[in-house]
Amino acid sequence: QKILADELPDTEVIVVSNREPYIHEKTPDGVVLRKPASGLVSALEPITRTCGGTWIAHGGGSADRETVDQQDHVAVPPEDPTYTLRRVWLSEEELKGYYLGFANEGMWPLCHIAFTRPIFRAADWDAYQAVNRKFADAVIAEAKSDRPIVLVQDYHFALLPRLIRERLPNAIIITFWHIPWPNAEVFSICPWREQILDGLLGSSILGFHIQLHCNNFTESVDRFLESRIDREGAAISYKGGTTLVHAYPISIEWPKKPKFITTDPSRTLRDRHGIPDDVKIAIGVERLDYTKGVLDRFHALDEFFTQHSDWIGRLVFLQIAAPSRSDLPAYKLLHEECLALVAEINDRYGTDGYQPIILLDEHHTQEELAELYRAADICVVSSLHDGMNLVAKEFVASRDDERGVLILSTFAGASRELLEALIVNPFDPSSMGEAFFHALTMPEGEMRERMQRMREVVRSNNVFRWAGSMLVDAARLRKRAALTSAS
Ligand code: F6P
Repeated sequence: QKILADELPDTEVIVVSNREPYIHEKTPDGVVLRKPASGLVSALEPITRTCGGTWIAHGGGSADRETVDQQDHVAVPPEDPTYTLRRVWLSEEELKGYYLGFANEGMWPLCHIAFTRPIFRAADWDAYQAVNRKFADAVIAEAKSDRPIVLVQDYHFALLPRLIRERLPNAIIITFWHIPWPNAEVFSICPWREQILDGLLGSSILGFHIQLHCNNFTESVDRFLESRIDREGAAISYKGGTTLVHAYPISIEWPKKPKFITTDPSRTLRDRHGIPDDVKIAIGVERLDYTKGVLDRFHALDEFFTQHSDWIGRLVFLQIAAPSRSDLPAYKLLHEECLALVAEINDRYGTDGYQPIILLDEHHTQEELAELYRAADICVVSSLHDGMNLVAKEFVASRDDERGVLILSTFAGASRELLEALIVNPFDPSSMGEAFFHALTMPEGEMRERMQRMREVVRSNNVFRWAGSMLVDAARLRKRAALTSAS
């Protein structure tokens, strides 16, 4: 807020993402408000809440239409509104082609090295282009000046920066790509690679979580477009404009009032699931997605029980697997595989009254997740490839008791910052199995020291710093442009 006021006075902020921050759903008990399970939303919402402005997103909730005004606006957060949510309505056909098809069967597997073959259909590409144009119209309709800051979010909108640039040449367009960017060879699979790169280079700033993804993007541009690349200045000049390509590691809002835990935080969880007090609890929290390495962590658990059979009966793995993109075959298959593997492991090691894996494939509220994070002895993030992974940071931020061990995949962006986690290769079940042993036998002092250090990192590199660094860079670009035009 301060950076905006000081460095970019009178500049309106417009955020664009596919997923909306508040979903209104019809239920038998009336309309309920839900917050989606989305890393993007948990990072962007505190920023928009603080800075104000307009957030444009697809209205996907069954009661969304009932809550908007004539201009499809709703004031949010409902309890104390500080910004406007502008909903864009997409038809079944548009969603099928743009969201399920091109974004999630094409770009998602393309960008994550998770060995799921990307599917590219011409009809999906048509829908993707049309929906990007529809969101560009919404940005133009919402912009009150010709120089707004537009924050474009993620792989659903690769074409949007160029479409906005053509109509608002003086806008500052900051695009953040929340998922990895693959190397140029992998990226070349995409039949519309030039158009995707051209679209993104309409941005003033293009952000990724880590430097490797910036390098991969720059190499892709070098390979497929005629442009001028300034590697030292991290800038790409193309079609008369310049895009700064920079790493901005995303984060979370640091919890405001740390509540020091006086009673056993696992009490309700143990009572609810019948877990005895002397049994340790490991947790996994994600959308059920093939990039998250859920099956791989279960294989590692299997390996751990084989190697350390004295732990059978003394460790329970609680897996939250929120259903996600369930209309897609790859996600349906993963759900079936997951159920089958859990049944197999529970059958192998379970006894009357002991179930090694408890799978909860439903949505959980933020409060329920916070309770779970506090109750866990171990939190496992075993993504096969992940831009950042905010579960790792949320777990650390929740542990004001400075206890708990994080087992973290080396292929999640978070592993570049949370160096005191037990870093694992999820493709190697035996070493990940040994990480369970290390975590369960870790001396109390070492556990605290590791957690303290990780908490310092997340506290200082929080989501406001993430947004602040992008805005500072944006202000610098605007000043530089003003100086150049004056000279
Ligand atoms: O960046 C990836 C992302 O957009 C995150 O917001 C979240 O992890 C996930 O994908 C949400 O997916 P969807 O909106 O398709 O449920």
